[in-house]
Amino acid sequence: MADQKKLFIKTYGCQMNVYDSERMAEALGGAGYIATDTPDDADMILLNTCHIREKAAEKVYSELGRFKGLKAAKPELKIGVAGCVAQAEGAEIMRRQPMVDLVVGPQSYHRLPAMEAKAGNGQKALDTDFPEEDKFAHLAARPKAQRGPSAFLTVQEGCDKFCAFCVVPYTRGAEVSRPVDRVLDEARDLVERGVREITLLGQNVNAYHGAGAGGDWSLARLIRELARIDGLARIRFTTSHPNDMDDDLIAAHGDCDKLMPYLHLPVQSGSDRILKRMNRSHTAEQYLRLIERIRAARPDILLSGDFIVGFPEETEADFAATLALVEQVRYGQCYSFKYSTRPGTPAAERAQVDEDVKADRLQRLQALLSRQQAEIQDAMVGREVGVLFEKPGREAGQLVGKSDHLHAVHAQAGAERIGQVARVRITGSGANSLAGQVVEV
Ligand code: 5AD
Ligand code: SF4
Repeated sequence: MADQKKLFIKTYGCQMNVYDSERMAEALGGAGYIATDTPDDADMILLNTCHIREKAAEKVYSELGRFKGLKAAKPELKIGVAGCVAQAEGAEIMRRQPMVDLVVGPQSYHRLPAMEAKAGNGQKALDTDFPEEDKFAHLAARPKAQRGPSAFLTVQEGCDKFCAFCVVPYTRGAEVSRPVDRVLDEARDLVERGVREITLLGQNVNAYHGAGAGGDWSLARLIRELARIDGLARIRFTTSHPNDMDDDLIAAHGDCDKLMPYLHLPVQSGSDRILKRMNRSHTAEQYLRLIERIRAARPDILLSGDFIVGFPEETEADFAATLALVEQVRYGQCYSFKYSTRPGTPAAERAQVDEDVKADRLQRLQALLSRQQAEIQDAMVGREVGVLFEKPGREAGQLVGKSDHLHAVHAQAGAERIGQVARVRITGSGANSLAGQVVEV
């Protein structure tokens, strides 16, 4: 179509931003935009940003700088900034980078089409409100186009926990859960369009308490209901807080077949002194007991986590406690970060740990985590696992998919298997993926 405009979205940060970018692309589809994967021929460029760690805003400004030439060559090109940097910086973005036409915070995406219509030709549009209305209810319905086998679905957003290092409660706002019916409708719609695996998203997903029949539903109840959808083969959820792992959710890991044996359960530190200063409201011991209960329900569950090293006042003994906790848990996969100061958060005001100490601790922690990851991957060799094939692999005749435990698995298989869960015998373990052979049944 001649009048179709092209939209280039670049997404940073977490899976929720990936989901939001899809929804924004769909919303702008109604305004005549189709996606393009290069900024060069775009009529609109949208950066969906992340503010979780240092230099996030600086990265956005330097990325914007790169579009100067494009904007000069095509003045009607619209440039927008969305996501958590948009929320945190607001109008400052347009002051520092006047070629930006539009700044939209994560709670206002449903207003994007109206903002897009207004912005451009010297007009600016800015919205970083936390509006009362549910943005999801006002976002355009997802179009009926066929989808890949795996999809994200946001069920909860925001956070009331206020960990001392974290900007999320300020950028994403208070905890809000989407109503049960909306989640179920969106899930059914995704399945009709070819989705076989849904990952439920929330900054504190296991604090989900969406309105449903008979009152608020827990995440476990929602998962059990989703499991009744024919054609939906797998359910996952992320990210969880240890204090919100209730008995039913633990039990669901044991008795709900569609709930996959993988759990991302960040602890951040193994030192009670630091956990307290982080405002995590649990001890290392409580976390370890919780892991025991989860493993009792689902012995083969693969655990993943997040760690911060060099939090203000962290001593070598505190760090040793983190290493000891990791030794006890045996994680299959982890994310670990140097503490980075976030202005406006309580920890930013405290005595900071030297950068070289942080770097040294991160390297030591990552060496241990990599060893654990490799051991757990190696232990998969010889086992038979379910793999949902998602797309062609790098080599001819090969497909790549995810195992039940969320390992990437490569295997020789025909394209007709994309979207199917196959039984695969694992034959090898590489740096970040497994190799396998489809077992014919
Ligand atoms: N510095 C370093 N890491 C952080 N995270 C959140 N805030 C910070 C910060 N200020 C990490 C936490 C969280 C993950 C999403 O990002 O580990 O779980
Ligand atoms: Fe941030 Fe803590 Fe909330 Fe997670 S639980 S989003 S780390 S404040």
